[in-house]
Amino acid sequence: MVALARSNILPDLPPMSDEGDASTQAFERDVLKGLGARRKHLPPKYFYDAAGSQLFDRITDQPEYYPTRCEMHILQDNAAAIAQLIPAGAALVEFGSGSNKKARILLAAAPVLAVYVPVDISGEMLEQEAAALQLDFPRLKIHPVAADFTHDFDLPEEAKAAPVRVGFFPGSTIGNFEPHEAASFLRNAAKILGPGAKLIIGADLIKPAEILNAAYNDGAGITAKFNLNLLVRINRELGGTFKLDTFEHHAFYNRERHRVEMHLASLKRQKVKVAGECFDFRAGETIHTENSYKYSVESLGALARGVGWASAGVWTDAKKHFSIQAFSLAP
Ligand code: AVJ
Repeated sequence: MVALARSNILPDLPPMSDEGDASTQAFERDVLKGLGARRKHLPPKYFYDAAGSQLFDRITDQPEYYPTRCEMHILQDNAAAIAQLIPAGAALVEFGSGSNKKARILLAAAPVLAVYVPVDISGEMLEQEAAALQLDFPRLKIHPVAADFTHDFDLPEEAKAAPVRVGFFPGSTIGNFEPHEAASFLRNAAKILGPGAKLIIGADLIKPAEILNAAYNDGAGITAKFNLNLLVRINRELGGTFKLDTFEHHAFYNRERHRVEMHLASLKRQKVKVAGECFDFRAGETIHTENSYKYSVESLGALARGVGWASAGVWTDAKKHFSIQAFSLAP
């Protein structure tokens, strides 16, 4: 059986009320704060409700969206070499597991892995995926943790008891952080995983703007739907009054800052209510919903080395579109 741990992600809030659970309160607080700012913004981690997770899965099938396919190929082609980094009895801790199809490649290539800890903000998905995985890896101890890994969380005892912990952070999710937040994440991962740890990170690479712009503006409009679904979620969970046909998906590569930006642009001047509060939009004003930072092998390596990780391997595809990098801590 898989056990689902709930971490205490909001120690600074009053006890739960009828207004909803702790995660809805965090959502409301972040949305009101982001929409109240001079430059409106929303955290991308809230894209992933049930509908958003499904839309993201559809994005990964779009011909223009290369990262997921690229990363899967790199993992498949180099699974044996990557598995060499994994010591016997190790626990694999995956940050933001979603569907665990990438972890499956590592688990199959490294049968010495004893424990698997998928950590994800979306609790429902975690349990289903863990149950399905258990059927294929009957001897593996699976301990999902429903937590926001951008906050502190506790590892299950079985993972703490393992001789070493291997962090796995695929999907270029690290690109959603500001570079200084990425450094904090890497520092925190070192603290959570402990001495002798390994860390395997998938990161999208800097490349020509045409390729990046196409990847975030797919012809079928799935990325636009994914972006707009954030407003659907706010309407449903926070009593929002966003009219979906008055906002438009904008995505473009910002060369100076090495990041793809996604925005939702208001097509007209209007007022929108959320959780009883009113927000004014100018015509053309945008809500900045996501940054997707692109790294070079060197720039990500430097960031990790700066907070104590040593480089332990790099793998890329032939076109150098995507990278998997491994790091280690001293025992
Ligand atoms: C899951 C954060 C890696 O930045 O490419 C895909 C999310 N946003 N299309 C990315 C996303 C728009 C994705 N990450």
